[in-house]
Amino acid sequence: METKHEKISVSIWRGQEDGAFEAFEVPFVEDQTILDLLTHVQRSVDSSLSYRFACRVGMCGSCAMQVNGKPRWTCRTLVRNVVQNGQLTLKPLANLPIVKDLVVDMEPFFKKWQSAKGRFEPAPAPVEHFVPIKPDDKQRQKADDAIECINCGCCYSACDVVESNPAYLGPAALNRAWSLINDAKDYANPERLIAVSSDGGCQNCHTNSQCVARCPLGLNPTRSIAGLKKAVSLATLKGEI
Ligand code: SF4
Ligand code: SF4
Ligand code: FES
Repeated sequence: METKHEKISVSIWRGQEDGAFEAFEVPFVEDQTILDLLTHVQRSVDSSLSYRFACRVGMCGSCAMQVNGKPRWTCRTLVRNVVQNGQLTLKPLANLPIVKDLVVDMEPFFKKWQSAKGRFEPAPAPVEHFVPIKPDDKQRQKADDAIECINCGCCYSACDVVESNPAYLGPAALNRAWSLINDAKDYANPERLIAVSSDGGCQNCHTNSQCVARCPLGLNPTRSIAGLKKAVSLATLKGEI
């Protein structure tokens, strides 16, 4: 943690893929977040700076970008915890097309959620008698462990398999699929298992846990993907898929 600077130097990516860094000098403010710092730059220095946010409290997942090379949610990241020798570098998330400055196009990310069948599918007909699911039910606990994702894209930006294989569904979409596979009230299996074992599916993951290291919610997509690999193997052996 650094607290001694009066001013800090911030290099911010400007433009699109062929853009460049632009340097700004900003006051160092105790307890300021990276998002606060960007608001200062936009309001007081350059109103054309583009960046994305909505909730400002760690719920919407829209403010993520690379801070000194690591994907982070910027509304919950204090400048003093990440500034290095009075310097900061802010770049858009990796593995997604840049729209402008710090804003990326999230469409490829959410398309992969669709490909992984990341949407809850209710029973085809109304269910007359609901079977209660207890909070300590083992399968429900697996669903709950993976359910709190805010779609920030930090894990996706950190994954080197996404970088080398654009078809790979990636940690967030597969984590979501795992949550739904363990939801006893969802009716999209075995179609979802087929979807997550496609060419860009769970088998591509090489389990280095970069996604886990970067998830601001402390979720564990690596564990979810390991669960998917096991479920796919089991369903294949049983002839279900
Ligand atoms: S564990 Fe798998 S999904 Fe996570 S970063 Fe590594 S390769 Fe990507
Ligand atoms: S799994 Fe974590 S890092 Fe990945 S999108 Fe969800 S909240 Fe963000
Ligand atoms: S602005 Fe919503 S999570 Fe940061």
